[in-house]
Amino acid sequence: MPACDRIFWSRSNSFRFLSSSPSSYYLHAMRKLIIAIDGPSGVGKGTVARAIAAELGYRHVDSGAMYRAVGWKALQLGVGLDQEDTLSGLATDSTIEISATLVAIDGTDITRAIRTPEIDKAAAAVARLPNVRAILVGRQRRLGLDGGIVMEGRDIGTVVFPQADLKLYLDASVEERARRRASDSAHSGPVALAEVATALKERDQSDSTRAASPLYAAADAVVIDTTGTPVADVVAQVMAMVRKLLMAD
Ligand code: C5P
Repeated sequence: MPACDRIFWSRSNSFRFLSSSPSSYYLHAMRKLIIAIDGPSGVGKGTVARAIAAELGYRHVDSGAMYRAVGWKALQLGVGLDQEDTLSGLATDSTIEISATLVAIDGTDITRAIRTPEIDKAAAAVARLPNVRAILVGRQRRLGLDGGIVMEGRDIGTVVFPQADLKLYLDASVEERARRRASDSAHSGPVALAEVATALKERDQSDSTRAASPLYAAADAVVIDTTGTPVADVVAQVMAMVRKLLMAD
């Protein structure tokens, strides 16, 4: 069985097998690309981004975790989610660590605590504030300075890395996204599909209609509708694009 057939549409599934494929060895040695992956909530950006990063030996950055971390800290401190000045000060003064296995703010491990319906909403609220975005976007750009990065979010191909080597926009029907989110054991919350779908639609609405960096596919992004597609096929499709790019050098 090919290595990538062992992964599924879930954050909690392992992608470590992927980097063992022989073709990875030469890909690791080539030019270090910036790969931007955008798309709506629950579409499986994280699963695809982690798999691609593992194949290439790149860093995977979940930019949404930064907005979640700021939302989490705001709730802890009782700061109103519309208090832009206080929240941008809070974002500036906070140390946010993001690795493959850990999200921490000011040294506190919040890896699990930020995957709740309450933080889904808090993250989307702080993400509407331009001054908070400016601080987090600055940090995201610094992480990509040397390339070799797969970053996922809502504005990566449009705002954070408009010069990205490869831009992908993943989409899927809301029903399919609700099924993927409900089976994600890393994310707590309702399992009733209708309830999950309603929450996803609310976040889609907030993310795509906000004034600051709304969610949309960059004009030069490759749009992939993943509805009904096994994750292995999506990863294989993306890896084919990456190989083509690297071979053209
Ligand atoms: O990707 P995730 O669902 O964890 O992101 C949480 C929230 O953070 C999103 O609903 C969105 O409002 C915000 N976000 C954003 N820009 C990004 C990543 C996330 O506005 N690049």
